[in-house]
Amino acid sequence: MDTFDSVKEEAVKAVEEAKDLSGLQEARITWLGKKGKIQGLMAEMKNLPKEEKPAFGQKVNGLKKTVSELIEERQKVLQAEALKQRLQSEKIDITLDGEKMERGTIHPLIMIQQELEDLFIGMGYKVAEGPEVEQDYYNFELANLPKDHPARDMQDTFYIDPSTLLRTHTTAIQMRELEKAHGQLPIKLICPGKVYRRDDDDATHSHQFMQCEGLVVGEHITLADLKGTLEFMANAMFGEGRKVRFRPSYFPFTEPSVEVDVSCPFCNGKGCSVCKGSGWIEILGAGMVHPHVLEMNGFDPKKCSGFAFGVGLERVAMLKYGIDDIRNFYTDDIRFLKNFDRFD
Ligand code: PHE
Repeated sequence: MDTFDSVKEEAVKAVEEAKDLSGLQEARITWLGKKGKIQGLMAEMKNLPKEEKPAFGQKVNGLKKTVSELIEERQKVLQAEALKQRLQSEKIDITLDGEKMERGTIHPLIMIQQELEDLFIGMGYKVAEGPEVEQDYYNFELANLPKDHPARDMQDTFYIDPSTLLRTHTTAIQMRELEKAHGQLPIKLICPGKVYRRDDDDATHSHQFMQCEGLVVGEHITLADLKGTLEFMANAMFGEGRKVRFRPSYFPFTEPSVEVDVSCPFCNGKGCSVCKGSGWIEILGAGMVHPHVLEMNGFDPKKCSGFAFGVGLERVAMLKYGIDDIRNFYTDDIRFLKNFDRFD
């Protein structure tokens, strides 16, 4: 009986003192397991007189029940504690600021390029590309600028070797496309891309800039087609109601050649500081493809004609977004670029 009482006492103490669920599980095994201490009491029975055995057996079973009830109760308490602890340790502080995802933006020049591409693809043009490291042949010769032609000075060139250069205009792409067409009509394309000239960089000059040139060759293509096309483009880029005007100019690859002005989108042609009071802003060079250029590229100028134009993308972007320094496009200042985040 002494053994019984001390086992009972110890068991109760062990259950009460179990600190956590795994400690409790240990106590369960120690006291209630098949080889546990309470089961061990049964072994004592054989030393008892026969008549005491049933009563002792009942007591042991009663003890089993009591201990397992105690364990169950203790388990509930410990489970509740464990849950509370977990909730506390996994607590999310919803008052903390979220981490802002930094997203890149489309460069304003690429935005203008994409706008022009959409516009001209909509009119059935294709978009052509070419190499930035170009042969003198495509950049100059085929564009009616033979060696020693004085007009080569118009475009100060970065030469890599005497016959290789950084293209000075995307007209080089036009020449490649004309040659590739083998006299096949019609041709209708735009060619956007980077170009390079030996300029000293300042607010309005950059040794690297972007152009988008257009070329159409077919039967009965006239200066009126060029004007209509450019007027359409000016309206799309600078808003409805733009007018264009042509002024005589000179390019070796076009004849006649024109300088093209757009009626000022800021004052609607009345005259303001942007257009310096004239009501017009010069935006591009254009003209009818020179018959000699057609000939050199395998087209018969008696059977076909064409127009070409070339616009500087920086100039368009500067006018459209009111940017006053061309260097902004090339200094990668995140504060500048953020202005063009279309999702902000
Ligand atoms: N290539 C000329 C330039 O870079 C622009 C131009 C293109 C002019 C096509 C006329 C025709 O200045």
